[in-house]
Amino acid sequence: LRSDLLQRVEAATDLDALDAVRVQALGKKGEITQRMKTLGNLAPEERKEAGQAFNLIKQAVAEAIEIRKASLHSVALEARLAEEKVDVSLPPRPTTIGKMHPISQTLEELVAIFGEMGFSVAEGHHIEDDFHNFTALNIPPEHPARQELDTFYMPEREDGTRSVLRTHTSPVQIRAMQNTTPPIRIIAPGRTFRADHDATHSPMFHQVEGLVIDEKTNMGHLKGVLIEFCRAFFGVKDLPLRFRPSYFPFTEPSAEVDIGCSRSGGQLKIGAGEDWLEILGSGMVHPKVLENCGIDSSKYQGFAFGIGIERLAMLKYGIPDLRTFYETDLRWMKHYGFLP
Ligand code: PHE
Repeated sequence: LRSDLLQRVEAATDLDALDAVRVQALGKKGEITQRMKTLGNLAPEERKEAGQAFNLIKQAVAEAIEIRKASLHSVALEARLAEEKVDVSLPPRPTTIGKMHPISQTLEELVAIFGEMGFSVAEGHHIEDDFHNFTALNIPPEHPARQELDTFYMPEREDGTRSVLRTHTSPVQIRAMQNTTPPIRIIAPGRTFRADHDATHSPMFHQVEGLVIDEKTNMGHLKGVLIEFCRAFFGVKDLPLRFRPSYFPFTEPSAEVDIGCSRSGGQLKIGAGEDWLEILGSGMVHPKVLENCGIDSSKYQGFAFGIGIERLAMLKYGIPDLRTFYETDLRWMKHYGFLP
């Protein structure tokens, strides 16, 4: 019996076959178990001896099974290793590492620069009502900014009102002033929409709005913040800025800001030079706007500014056509260094 079972253990060529042998030999109905049941028929003297002999066989078979099992395991492992072998000399598949979109990169830079000056980020809604986008900002119904041509209007509701896709980030100023008591110091970056499409306009573009309201805020603060910002963003320490009188319904006085530049041989260079580039609109918040938001204009005043993000990125990276930001062309991304 013993040598027969041991032979069968050796003959098992895989783990399943080995387990079958184990059941045949040691299982409840296995050969050894069955034989041991017959011990009762023997005389007590013989029973003891035979019992010991069976136990030894049982032990030997169990041991043999464990040893066989270990060797079958390592055979199976070898086979698997051989099959799944990795050829480390093969060339890798080409991969492209993604990078943040230049608009998102520019936005992050802006948030960081203004963050250092103590501004926090506020958000509004892409779909705005007439009050926040126009009326509260002192833009009367007959103002050209409301023209169907520029503004994307939503369908009219039964009560005659209709929402708009915000045409600038300025409605976030209104929401901030309605919802917080001064002092206020926020920037509001985000998407804006106007029905316009050419090399320097896209129907969807980005702006960052700035708003500061406090008791003694004045035009000097406005200038200081914008000078600091432009120099940090373009990385030009003594970048000259020009504050040019302008008009916005929601600021008085208003100023457009130009930065110095030079053009030689078709190359634009930001910095002190013979030319100027307009980069943003700004002004002291109109008292009417403060009052529209429930802020006492005899106690508080402040300034606001609005900057076009695409325009900033175009100037910083020398990109001539605004529409290319949205064409997801990898060659374009590579050309301007936005991809490795
Ligand atoms: N909202 C103005 C625009 O879109 C920019 C602006 C913002 C001007 C804040 C002054 C103050 O052109």
